[in-house]
Amino acid sequence: MTLLDADAGVDEERILAAIEAEHGPDEDLRRRVGDQFARLHSLFGRLYGTRDDAFEQLAAVVAEAAASARARPADLRERDRALEADPGWFESERMVGGVCYVDRYAGTLAGVREQIPYFRELGLTYLHLMPLFESPEGDDDGGYAVSSYRRVDPRLGTMQELAELATDLRAAGISLVVDFIFNHTSDEHEWARRAVAGEEGYEDFYLIFPDREMPDLYERTTREIFPDDHAGSFIQLPDGRWIWSTFYHFQWDLNYANPAVFRAMAGEMLFLANQGVAALRMDAVAFIWKRIGTACESLPEAHLLLQAFNAVVRIAAPAMLFKSEAIVHPDEVIEFISPDECQLSYNPLQMALTWEALATRDARLLQQALDTRHDLPPGTAWATYVRGHDDIGWTFADEDAIQFGVVGGPHRRFLNDFYVRQALGSFARGVPFQENPRTGDARVTGTTASLAGVESGDAGGEDRVVLAHAIAMSTGGIPLIYLGDEVGQVNDYSYRERPDEAGDTRWVHRPYRPVGLYEQRHDPTTVAGRLFHRISRLIAVRAATPELGGNALIPFHVQDPGVLGYQRPGPTADDPRVLVLANVGDDPVTVEALTLSGLESGAVDLVTGAAVEIGAGIVLPAHGFVWLRVRALR
Ligand code: GLC
Repeated sequence: MTLLDADAGVDEERILAAIEAEHGPDEDLRRRVGDQFARLHSLFGRLYGTRDDAFEQLAAVVAEAAASARARPADLRERDRALEADPGWFESERMVGGVCYVDRYAGTLAGVREQIPYFRELGLTYLHLMPLFESPEGDDDGGYAVSSYRRVDPRLGTMQELAELATDLRAAGISLVVDFIFNHTSDEHEWARRAVAGEEGYEDFYLIFPDREMPDLYERTTREIFPDDHAGSFIQLPDGRWIWSTFYHFQWDLNYANPAVFRAMAGEMLFLANQGVAALRMDAVAFIWKRIGTACESLPEAHLLLQAFNAVVRIAAPAMLFKSEAIVHPDEVIEFISPDECQLSYNPLQMALTWEALATRDARLLQQALDTRHDLPPGTAWATYVRGHDDIGWTFADEDAIQFGVVGGPHRRFLNDFYVRQALGSFARGVPFQENPRTGDARVTGTTASLAGVESGDAGGEDRVVLAHAIAMSTGGIPLIYLGDEVGQVNDYSYRERPDEAGDTRWVHRPYRPVGLYEQRHDPTTVAGRLFHRISRLIAVRAATPELGGNALIPFHVQDPGVLGYQRPGPTADDPRVLVLANVGDDPVTVEALTLSGLESGAVDLVTGAAVEIGAGIVLPAHGFVWLRVRALR
């Protein structure tokens, strides 16, 4: 039976009856399956409607979700209920994330557990552990080549320990986030081996072609993601066939046009959900559906797939969040964000434009992004960040930039040169990543401290580090800190001596936990001490400032192009609001009385706690900012 001739109502009853025959009656589960079934049925219809096996696969997915719901540990169910009753929990001003590699930051999962007191000291409520699954020996793209989603890399610990860590973190008020790397597996994954061997049921798990005919067609319009590794989107197997491989040659893209692949990955997702993971970072979402004649990025079916995964997880782990990792044009980034698709998304535009503003000493592109591209659907939030484990790509929209006479291509080249070539008096010590001489595309790597000028000894270095965090922490959403940045860790060039890392410059900004810097964190005579004090102060102030939660933002325009401005409103227009002013330039700037004349003169500087009179204007020091609680004049 194909889905197009099946009747959704009848199917649902049949599936529910089978589940209840196995598990006994369960009202709660019946309700959740009831809530999701019609949606899932319709999504499957649109994705797979014409395939003979569509109904069979749909029924299997729902049955697996139901079994997973039944197997869900009691404490996780309790948490589900609490979070379902508080659906905006992740939009709170108290949400702050940390990001780290298990091995580099803490050695093992047991080591991560030992860091919980530090995470609390810093004020974290969210912890993203970089990929920790079994993966090939040697180069594994930092764990993004997964060989088993159900086994933890044995050097780091076990799945049991991961579940225990999730419990301990939860007790400390910290939500655990891990990656769901579902666009591809490693070439050593069992599915990959079976597919290459042509085993029945697995032949179509990946996109394998006997010759260049289809690859040539696809590659007319696809983009090269890791050109240092291979040209185009395919790599050749030893037997001469070609297999789709968007990223490294050992990462093979799954074929989601096959519903058995959806079913298999949904099973892995449900398994992870029951380990106590609160949110999944949905890796490389833009790439999951391919169609000839397109870039094979951000296609409509990619959204349908995410919505289908979302419907499945609601049955078993109703409070689970998805965070979209779409590092693409801002028009496409926003498309992945909705309550029934990804509730969270990285904000790569704001991240890249913060660095753009620091380089140009001109905040207008960043201001424009906040003015026009910051809004989100209700029930969703940005994950803001100063930098992540990946390179910085200059993802702004050319059509936005040209409004200020800035031409995209040359401006991207300027930014890259500024950050990696130490040109034009640059304070930055970045390293180039995946420069593509054919397309001119280039990206930047480096820790926050190295990019901001701490490594080069620039006088503004520390202030820029704090300023960048002050922006990420005040625009709304969940700010993510790459752990180590809060103590000013600089680039680690030793990756060049490690053969498995030497070819990927992103390792320069994925250093080991800087034990010495952490020891200095309470010593104000050190860079680490000053940065730690200032950044942890921002986290604490933010947590006590409800206006900084949520996503509502009202632009506040200051004449000087070096000054970024916005207001974070209170519940009503009569309530106080928080005015943020940030100077990206190297000189002090006066924000004139006239600019501030719509506000009452008495304000409070939230960071210092001091009362300030703003009626006569205020001076922002070089790379300085204020978070002011103000009232509008009535
Ligand atoms: C994502 C990850 C990146 C990885 C790629 C392939 O972009 O952030 O580190 O290389 O996916 O999995």
